[in-house]
Amino acid sequence: MTGVVPPEPTIQTLSPFETGPDTPAGRWLRAFWQPVFRSEDLPAGVAKPITIMSEDFTLYRGEEGTAVVTQALCPHRLTKLSIGTVEGDSLRCKFHGWKYGPDGQCTEAPLQGENLIRRIRLTTYPVTEIYGLIFVYFGDGDAPPFPDIEKFSREHGHDMMSAPLVFNRVYRRYCNYYINTENTIDHAHVPYTHAISANPTLTKVGFSPDLAVVRDITVERLPYGVRVVDTDDGQHANSAVLLPNVMHLQVGQRIGWLENLSWRVPIDDESHRTFSIEAIHTDEEGAKVWRERQAQLQHEVAKYPLTEDIAEMIIRGEKTLMDFVDHPRLANIEDALTQQAMRFITDADRQNLAQSDKGVLQLRRMFMSRLADFIAGDPSATVSW
Ligand code: FES
Ligand SMILES: [Fe+2]
Repeated sequence: MTGVVPPEPTIQTLSPFETGPDTPAGRWLRAFWQPVFRSEDLPAGVAKPITIMSEDFTLYRGEEGTAVVTQALCPHRLTKLSIGTVEGDSLRCKFHGWKYGPDGQCTEAPLQGENLIRRIRLTTYPVTEIYGLIFVYFGDGDAPPFPDIEKFSREHGHDMMSAPLVFNRVYRRYCNYYINTENTIDHAHVPYTHAISANPTLTKVGFSPDLAVVRDITVERLPYGVRVVDTDDGQHANSAVLLPNVMHLQVGQRIGWLENLSWRVPIDDESHRTFSIEAIHTDEEGAKVWRERQAQLQHEVAKYPLTEDIAEMIIRGEKTLMDFVDHPRLANIEDALTQQAMRFITDADRQNLAQSDKGVLQLRRMFMSRLADFIAGDPSATVSW
């Protein structure tokens, strides 16, 4: 009798969409450094609750400046440690004052014996703070080396750290992280999703009209992902997914050439955050104009609800995109709209992927095949790009 050949994995059986702690894709994403917060948003002495891949954690910054990530709940009676107070580089629980050092060890517990104090320890996670972002390793065993972003950019981009403008962005979307991951290489969405923000008669800022043209694409399979280049001359945009969840985008903009590395990090399976490092290669004058524009832009954006909430209003039929033509981040609302309207793909086999989805299809195949390699224990599946 011959053995039973296991069926080929499909997008249903080896889902990129589910990233909870015991899912295949969740385990794979946890094998890489993932950004969880923007450095400038976490002052010294502050603790915050964070949710990453459907698990809760506590993030705090000690008074000397070091960022620490621990389990969410105090081992004593399980209240949230994020409501506690930072003392030096330690965190004291708000409820009964048990105190934990940055290595998680309990160092004080009022009225308790030394034995108990020694026994109590929080789970903590390796943290690397670099390029304006706080990265955490949630996987098993020792943390892998941090990817050499500068070398990657020198070899595959425009040497982003040498650009006069390097900055970070973070935004949330109420949809599965993978929907945004594959949007990276879905150039066919641009003329339609961004029809308003690319139309200079309707909007002042947004895509250049030249970008929002239907073009065929060339799909390139890379050792670490999939890159898509516009077929005509590749001068408008080229974008890659660096497996499992990073975008590398290079695109011409009015003030210069933009290079963007963005991590799509699941909050849970129906929402995610994008953390990006962005660089604009421009001249002194361009950098000056950009900085002035940013200050003004923050002010304008603050007048509106959050982008992800605007998209929900439109999805519910209460508003239309035309109600937001003056929003300085209209292009982001347009993407949030189409992506949040999908929220979570429960049955990817029902989609009808077509010719213009050849990049999406290639990425799904490669994601599943590298994920299968990871599950089989292939160490190359956890090497960063
Ligand atoms: S619950 Fe934290 S000290 Fe009691
Ligand atoms: Fe888009």
